[in-house]
Amino acid sequence: MKSQRPALPPSARSLRRAIEILGWVTVSILVITGLVAIFDRAGFLTSASNMDFTDPIATFNPFDGRYVQFSLSSWAHLITGLIIFTLGPLQFMPSIRRKSISLHRWSGRIWLSAGSLAAISGGFIGIFQPFMGVDGQGFNESMATTFFAVYTLFCLAKAYSTIRARNVRAHREWMVRSWALMLAIATERIMLAILMATTDIGVPVLFGTTFWMAGLVNLAASEIWINLTRSPGSGHRHWKDLDAVSAA
Ligand code: HEM
Repeated sequence: MKSQRPALPPSARSLRRAIEILGWVTVSILVITGLVAIFDRAGFLTSASNMDFTDPIATFNPFDGRYVQFSLSSWAHLITGLIIFTLGPLQFMPSIRRKSISLHRWSGRIWLSAGSLAAISGGFIGIFQPFMGVDGQGFNESMATTFFAVYTLFCLAKAYSTIRARNVRAHREWMVRSWALMLAIATERIMLAILMATTDIGVPVLFGTTFWMAGLVNLAASEIWINLTRSPGSGHRHWKDLDAVSAA
């Protein structure tokens, strides 16, 4: 099948190859950050489950206490987060898709289900029980969670419906958006750590604000990457294959 778009000049092909390498390095850092956060919080919940107390907020603190208070949602969130961060990178490896498309399909179904549950369980805590209360400074976190949880669910639904309609190009684009949104939890942690170390602004303000910042930065990065690598037609030929043909 012939490409409907003229071949890219060598400089543009080199540029997107360089951005791809930078992207994988960034994704690796974010995945490690997210996994550390998961194990950190899971360790806390495990030790809390071995303690005797009546009021988790008084026993721990207003931030950590909520994870104990809503431990079912917290565990659902951590387990689905672990699945998302483990399977996520594999979904974007063309070599795995080429070797076994059924593995890609099955892990994709698990990934989409885990993504939906992560958005719903995160939504439960962040929308209704944000740090600092929904009628206080937590309103910022509550609104950020509402926006990102709903938009994530939308992106996941589009990723599924487009591949059912055999539109590979659109499926890839919605998956890139979904993955960028999932990775935002790690971007947020990095932003939060930097701002806590370099400013005197308190965590109650920083927490919700960095949620917005991280989500929007990741979404913007995903839109740039999608535009740079959009394949023609229904996208059955990956941009890498097209670049390889042009280079030959
Ligand atoms: C759209 C999907 C997601 C939404 C809307 C979401 C939302 C949230 C919210 C609102 C909280 C509670 C923050 C608080 O008030 O303390 C939270 C906590 C957390 N989320 Fe997510 N989340 C999502 C996906 C993920 C993913 C994919 C991971 C995988 C790493 C993840 C890992 C965590 C962790 C580790 C915590 C605990 C944070 C801590 O220990 O400080 N989340 N999430």
